[in-house]
Amino acid sequence: MKMSEENGLLQRFEITGGDFGNAGKTSTSIKEILQEIGIDSSIIIRASIAAYEAEMNVVMYARRGVLTLNITPEKLHLKLEDEGPGIENLDMAMQEGFSTATDEMREMGFGAGMGLPNIKRNADKFDISSIPGKGTSLGITFCLNQTEKK
Ligand SMILES: Nc1ncnc2c1ncn2[C@@H]1O[C@H](COP(=O)(O)OP(=O)(O)O)[C@@H](O)[C@H]1O
Ligand SMILES: [Mg+2]
Repeated sequence: MKMSEENGLLQRFEITGGDFGNAGKTSTSIKEILQEIGIDSSIIIRASIAAYEAEMNVVMYARRGVLTLNITPEKLHLKLEDEGPGIENLDMAMQEGFSTATDEMREMGFGAGMGLPNIKRNADKFDISSIPGKGTSLGITFCLNQTEKK
């Protein structure tokens, strides 16, 4: 784990598309790191949900992705950048219940279309951008400073 005065904690995780056998490992590692450093439990729950949903979207829809965790005294930030098909219509993707999950994914219990809406709901700040044919990026921020809550 990298720590420095200026950048806080910075940790990088690689996620492989289609690798359902390892799916969930990155978000579990993140949860463990947050528990270890004593982040407020309500924030751990919200951040773990967001990390899991973002990780699963890379596993289900992208070729590969990198999740970067950054924690400073003020904020917990998750950045996800993937290489994949991207998202044609972000407004549609953000709607509850919208999913392009395959029948196979649905049989595994995925594809409720609640992932992106849940990330947004749990985060204090959420950004999504995508270039069709290239990939998708998410920025998910949680305020750690009590006075700066949403
Ligand atoms: N990283 C991604 N790359 C490409 N498409 C994505 C990605 N994340 C989400 N999507 C698209 O947005 C839709 C909605 O995502 P989400 O709300 O997580 O629901 P679900 O994962 O259940 O389909 C997905 O079905 C997919 O079409
Ligand atoms: Mg999803």
